[in-house]
Amino acid sequence: MVLAPAKQERGRCNVSRAAVLQGIGAVVPPRVVDNDELSRSLDTNDQWIRTRTGIGQRHWTDAGTTTGDLAAEAGQRALKSAGVDSVDMVILATSTGNQVMPATAPEVAETLGLGRVAAHDVSAACAGFIYALSSAAGALAIGGAERVLVVGADVWSTRLNPDDRSTAIIFGDGAGAAVLRAGDADEPGALLGFELGSDGSGRELAQVAGGGSRELSAGRPPRPDDAYLTMQGKEMFTHAVNRMAESSQRLLDRIGWGVEDVTWCAAHQANVRIINTIADVLELPRERMLVHLDRVGNTSAASIPLALTDAAGAGRLQAGDGVLMTAFGGGLSWGSTAVRWPAMDVLSI
Ligand code: COA
Repeated sequence: MVLAPAKQERGRCNVSRAAVLQGIGAVVPPRVVDNDELSRSLDTNDQWIRTRTGIGQRHWTDAGTTTGDLAAEAGQRALKSAGVDSVDMVILATSTGNQVMPATAPEVAETLGLGRVAAHDVSAACAGFIYALSSAAGALAIGGAERVLVVGADVWSTRLNPDDRSTAIIFGDGAGAAVLRAGDADEPGALLGFELGSDGSGRELAQVAGGGSRELSAGRPPRPDDAYLTMQGKEMFTHAVNRMAESSQRLLDRIGWGVEDVTWCAAHQANVRIINTIADVLELPRERMLVHLDRVGNTSAASIPLALTDAAGAGRLQAGDGVLMTAFGGGLSWGSTAVRWPAMDVLSI
């Protein structure tokens, strides 16, 4: 499909084009780690994990598989779903990139044979995919791109403390991707708006403390534990519920949707009790919440595209459905967007 370039008046920025969802795809690594396997090395059990989180298993990468590898595979699937083999921008949301520098997105673009396209990473933890969608929408709106591949990918298994039962049971690896093209706001698939926020005062609630300038400029030897993800689960739980519910409500108000317009809500898949409480606060029937974490755990930046791909691939999520997406994570950072689901082929995960 050939798109007209953004119409631009001299000295004036054109912001009239919408970002339209054209394809979606996702992947998890093959190795399944179930709750019983974790219970053999940690003081935990299947019943506790299922009851307190809703998670039954997660997928972890084998040695040698990187975040970039998963991102490229998800990207390939999204391109196939969109029926295209080129984009002019790649945005990768991740907090577990292949290395500290450079960004991983250029490597993903290269792996996919996309040429010398614009490519950069977005770091917003579990809210990263929504932030990356918003960056893509901005680029499309001003004519900086005609088509963008947005990927959310994380491999947290490499940064989990094997002795920390509060994180090791939760996180899984995965990647999900979407192709967005420039189009009109009234087309099916158009992203209808964004609501984003952050609160840096809560940055220590979920963090990898080491590896950055804070640690390196302190002039003390790095502590091995600083390489691990740590999380204050109870505080994060409360923030997750409040921030996602508030953000969702603000977004719905802004775009003029009531709860009856929400066929499905794809909320960040951190804990099924968080998902259910958001439903209750928004007065959405719980059956309208997509739940995928039972099979993949919390896949961080990949969680929303994985949940959407799972539901679309299984035929539950269908063309015309109203979809609310909302995410929350370290930073603290959060965000929401919504879309009327377009007709498209989706490969099952
Ligand atoms: N297995 C068995 N017992 C566990 C356990 C585990 N894996 N983890 C904690 N416990 C124990 C605790 O030690 C505590 O025991 P105590 O009462 O004897 O002190 C008890 O279970 C309750 O611990 P608590 O931390 O209050 O559990 P919780 O119900 O809050 O569940 C999380 C812990 C991490 C699952 C939950 O807080 C959570 O999902 N948080 C949100 C994470 C999130 O939203 N992240 C968002 C961005 S990534």
